[in-house]
Amino acid sequence: MHVLIIYWSATGNTKKVADTIRDTLVKDGITPVFKIVSDAAAEDLHSYDLVFIGAPTYQWQPPEPVLKYINDRMDYYRKTNGIKVGAPKVPGKTAVIFITYSGPHTGIKEATPAGDYLEQFFEHIGFDVAAKWYTVGEFHNRLEMSTKGPLGDTRGRPNQQDLQEIASKASALIKKLIA
Ligand SMILES: Cc1cc2nc3c(=O)[nH]c(=O)nc-3n(C[C@H](O)[C@H](O)[C@H](O)COP(=O)(O)O)c2cc1C
Repeated sequence: MHVLIIYWSATGNTKKVADTIRDTLVKDGITPVFKIVSDAAAEDLHSYDLVFIGAPTYQWQPPEPVLKYINDRMDYYRKTNGIKVGAPKVPGKTAVIFITYSGPHTGIKEATPAGDYLEQFFEHIGFDVAAKWYTVGEFHNRLEMSTKGPLGDTRGRPNQQDLQEIASKASALIKKLIA
């Protein structure tokens, strides 16, 4: 199985999740290609069976470098007739979205639009989106945002338990896909 993991991370939370997915896959015998989005422009997504994309949420969207990556890819697929009416599935192509968020104002609702946005990209290019994973992350250098919001004290997250959950989900997904 060919697997690509691409992500962007400013303060390390999303990178921790990406690293956990990579390490889990390696334990399960798969060596994924692992890149930050700015290095992934030349990757042909359809040459992979499984693509993971990860980002934090900024104002309920992926941050600018991730939006730029998606916009560039959409331009490419439009020019090469890769965006088809009805978004037919390309057989055997699966994507997983992973989002980290701090949720200081409205909790996970600040993250789901970013996940839905990335899901739409993959559905437009014919991928089946198998899962969207949302992981709480500390809002670094913003104490009030990390302690007074609806999620309580998020300092130190994603913590071991958060990452263990990601590892379990990644392992289960791989087993399901190769079954
Ligand atoms: C500029 C900026 C804007 C952010 N906006 C939001 C937001 O609107 N909602 C939210 O839940 N978290 C927000 N966050 C928190 C991040 O989404 C969260 O801490 C994330 O886990 C950071 O990921 P990273 O460490 O991989 O960069 C924001 C963080 C930054 C730096």
